[in-house]
Amino acid sequence: THPFKVAIALFGATGDLSSRKLLPSMFHLFQEGSLKDNFVIIAVGRRDLSDEDFRRTAEESISANRKLKSLDGLETFLQHVFYVKLDIADSNTYKILNDRFESLEAQFDTGRNRLFYLAMPPQYFTVITDNLRESGVTDTTGFKRLIIEKPFGKDYDSALALNNRIAKTFDEHEIYRIDHYLGKEMVQNIEVIRFSNSMFEPLWNNHYISNIQITSSESLGVLDRGEYYEKSGAVRDMFQNHLLQIVSLLGMEPPISLNSDDIRDEKIKVLKSLRRLDEKDVKNHFVRGQYDEGLVDGEAVPKYRNEENVASDSNTPTFIASRLFIDNFRWAGVPFYVRTGKRMKEKETKIVVEFKEVPKNLYYQDEEDDVLAKNLLVIRIQPDESITLHLNVKDYAGEKDTKEIKLSYTVAKQDLDRTVDAYENLIYDCLNGDPTNFTHQEELMNAWAFVDPVNKAWENAPASFPNYQSGSSGPVKSTLLLSRDGFKWWDV
Ligand code: BG6
Repeated sequence: THPFKVAIALFGATGDLSSRKLLPSMFHLFQEGSLKDNFVIIAVGRRDLSDEDFRRTAEESISANRKLKSLDGLETFLQHVFYVKLDIADSNTYKILNDRFESLEAQFDTGRNRLFYLAMPPQYFTVITDNLRESGVTDTTGFKRLIIEKPFGKDYDSALALNNRIAKTFDEHEIYRIDHYLGKEMVQNIEVIRFSNSMFEPLWNNHYISNIQITSSESLGVLDRGEYYEKSGAVRDMFQNHLLQIVSLLGMEPPISLNSDDIRDEKIKVLKSLRRLDEKDVKNHFVRGQYDEGLVDGEAVPKYRNEENVASDSNTPTFIASRLFIDNFRWAGVPFYVRTGKRMKEKETKIVVEFKEVPKNLYYQDEEDDVLAKNLLVIRIQPDESITLHLNVKDYAGEKDTKEIKLSYTVAKQDLDRTVDAYENLIYDCLNGDPTNFTHQEELMNAWAFVDPVNKAWENAPASFPNYQSGSSGPVKSTLLLSRDGFKWWDV
C-alpha cells in the first residue's frame, strides 16, 4: 500500500467510538504502513486539553485495545496526533482549526488533503459542515472528504433535509456515510461467494430458493445509550441500515464491474424493488418486541423499561422480525425474513439460504418422517466467520436412506487478525477514495421510504410491551411469522 497523505480532523475525539474503534484502527493503519510520514490527526473536542494531554488519552485507548498484537511504533504515531479545542456552534473558533490545518500541512506535507470525521451525535452534523464551509476550512487544493456516523435522519424527510444541507459543503462523492456492517469481511464476502462461483448464481432465484433468513441478535441490552435508543429503536438502529444493506447484497443482480457505481446501482435497484407497505399492512409483515427482565449468560438483567434514560411506559421496539419481498423477476414470491434484537440468548449475525426440495423425494430419513433434510447455505458473519453447506448423503449405518452432512469453511485465525476492526477497512477505503462500502444517498432514501410506514404504524399504536424475556429468541409472534408460510427460523 502507498502511504496516504492526509490530515484528519476527528470530531468527537474524546468520545467512546474514537477511543474504542477509530484511534486503534488508525494506529493499525500506521503499523501496516498505510499511514506513514505524511499524515496528521487533529483531534477536535470541547475540553481544554493540550496536544500532550490528548496523546496520553489516545495512548491509553490504543493500549487497551485487545485486537492489536503489538504497540510497536505507538510513540511515533502519537507525534502525528494534535488537539484543537473548538466550540462547534461558534463559527469564529473554526479559524483556529483552519490555522492548525495549515501549519500542520506545511510541517507534515499532507498534500492539503483534508478528511473530516464526525464521530458526533447527529444534531451537530450540519452545524459543523456549515461552519467548516463558512470559515473556509473546506477550501483546500487537495481532496476534502466527510465521514459521518449514523443516524442519517430519522425518516425520509429528515434524511432528505440532512442530505441537502450537507450537500452545500460536500458533493455526494465526497460524503462517506458509515455503515460499519459493510466493513465486516464476511459481509463483503457475500458478493464474492455469489459472483466468483459458478455453482450458486444459477440457483440464486425463486426457482431454487424457498426463503432467505437474516438474523442479527445481541445479548447486550441498550447499556448507557437509552437516550439515543428511545428515539431510534431496532428499526432505525439496525434494520434500516445494516440489515437492509445485507438484503441488498444478497438480492442484487451481478454488477457489470466491481466499480463502486456499478455495485451501488444494483443495490439501489433491490431497495427500490422492496414491496412497499402501507401502515395497515405492517402487522402482516412485521413483528415488534421489547425485552423483559430475564437471564442472559446466567446473569439477571433488568427489563428495557427499567434501563437508564428509558421511559417507564416506553413503546420503543428492541426486537423486530420482518418478512420482505423483492418484487422482481429473480425474487418474486421468495420471502426474506429478517430479525434483530437486543438481550437475546446470544450474539450472532448469520444468513441462512434455504433451497427448495427436490422435485420428487426418493429417499426417506427415518420411518415416520419421509422428508429430506433441507439444503441450506449458512453464512456466518459473526462471532465466527464461516460458510456451511448442508447436504444429504447416503447413511452408511443403513438405518435411514440419507443423513445430513455439513461442508464447512471457517476463516482462519490469522486472517481474522489482519485488521483490528471493520472500521479499519472503512477508513482505509475512504482514504483510498473508494466509496463502495459506504451508503449512497439513494440507498439511504430508498431504505427510509421502505421503513417509514413501519415506524409510523408503531408510533401511532402502543404495543403491549414487554413481550419477550431477556435471554430468549424474541416474541412468539416472530415464530408465527414464518410458520404461517410453512417455514421456521433455522437454529444452525
Ligand atoms: C450499531 C448499533 O450500529 O451496531 C448498536 O447502534 C449495535 O445498537 C451495533 O449494538 C452492533 O454492531 P456489531 O458490530 O457489534 O454487530
